[in-house]
Amino acid sequence: MRLYAFLLKNTSPKIEYYSRFSPSPLSIKQFLEFGRDNACEKTSYMFLRKELPVRLANTMREVNLLPDKLLNQPSVKLVQKWYMQSFLELLEYENRNSEDAQALEDFLEVLIEIRNRHNDVVPTMAQGVIEYKEKFGFDPFVSSNIQYFLDRFYTNRISFRMLINQHTLLFGNDTNPAHPKHIGSIDPTCSVADVVRDAYENAKMLCHQYYLAAPELKIEEFHAKAPEKPIHAVYVPSHLFHMLFELFKNSMRATVEHHEGREEGLPPVKAKVTLGKEDLSIKISDRGGGVPLRKIDRLFNYMYSTAPTPSLEPSRAVPLAGFGYGLPISRLYARYFQGDLKLYSMEGVGTDAVIYLKALSSESFERLPVFNKSAWRHYQTGPEADDWSNPSREPRDASKFKAKR
Ligand SMILES: Nc1ncnc2c1ncn2[C@@H]1O[C@H](COP(=O)(O)OP(=O)(O)OP(=O)(O)O)[C@@H](O)[C@H]1O
Ligand SMILES: [Mg+2]
Repeated sequence: MRLYAFLLKNTSPKIEYYSRFSPSPLSIKQFLEFGRDNACEKTSYMFLRKELPVRLANTMREVNLLPDKLLNQPSVKLVQKWYMQSFLELLEYENRNSEDAQALEDFLEVLIEIRNRHNDVVPTMAQGVIEYKEKFGFDPFVSSNIQYFLDRFYTNRISFRMLINQHTLLFGNDTNPAHPKHIGSIDPTCSVADVVRDAYENAKMLCHQYYLAAPELKIEEFHAKAPEKPIHAVYVPSHLFHMLFELFKNSMRATVEHHEGREEGLPPVKAKVTLGKEDLSIKISDRGGGVPLRKIDRLFNYMYSTAPTPSLEPSRAVPLAGFGYGLPISRLYARYFQGDLKLYSMEGVGTDAVIYLKALSSESFERLPVFNKSAWRHYQTGPEADDWSNPSREPRDASKFKAKR
């Protein structure tokens, strides 16, 4: 662990410095305008060499507030090491002249290296949480802190990758000839129905491998202003694909398992895409038996899944259900550009999952975690005593009143 100690010593004062700045959120419109109008690599370089360390430092301050028992898990330490290393690499550009073409070239390469280094942050962090849970069991205080932390940490990661991708796609060699109209990772005229179909087909393939059957897809669109027009979004198709793929996997698994051994065929999964003035909404409906209301919130919890924990071995096939990260991470993608993801279920029947996106790219601002006093306070306070009556804790004999805690 000598490298770890070295990194810690060399990054701490700078993390402290950069974390005093708040991240600067950008809107999809701003990303587009910057990328469209003769995008200037130097401007992007000058912005990123400060903004990336700021975003990293903000999240690293929060990592440091995690309980020691969690921080000491090998996987968490490994993730922390990646962050410190990337942070140090970025600092090399603090004072490098932006007129120096070599600096721009090196910077681009470093960004690609950093992106690759951080590829496995989510499963590695998940592994760290599993390691912790196995050793210390379930603690509601730590669990609520982990939930709060991971939502912010993963959002930070999504944003970090978004910035890196825009730069490398606009100025590097990894431009995408298949999508000449894309601006970096953004499709200015993204056909939502096409992404729905693509995500469905991919999930269907997995479902077939696993269950040898899969429900059909029925898709419907409604454009409030121009009903005859297909719906296009200004969005990052890979984010949309991620969310839809997760929802389809869940709906298919529920549908197949709920109808196991029944005579009738599988009911289709339905997708409805609608566009209003403010919202672009996508509803995925299944008849997979639903989830009781009491459990709905739990489904967004990182420490909860009904599927057996999958193996981390890279050689194993991608499972249809695994860590229980499908829903929480998808909701982060939706929220990242001011949208949301909600589940409405009717137990015994099925589930509607709705992805809400902003209809206007000028309103799709990045939603970013900021490290400040109120974030800090979150990690210090324990769970409060319940201030609503709780039937399971009510005294049997109403005459024996319990003293308040
Ligand atoms: N449409 C649905 N119908 C019924 N249950 C659902 C549905 N969607 C989700 N669930 C329940 O919610 C749980 C959490 O879903 P989530 O997608 O977050 O994780 P997962 O599917 O278990 O694993 P993975 O990380 O691979 O997605 C599922 O295990 C399942 O029990
Ligand atoms: Mg899932």
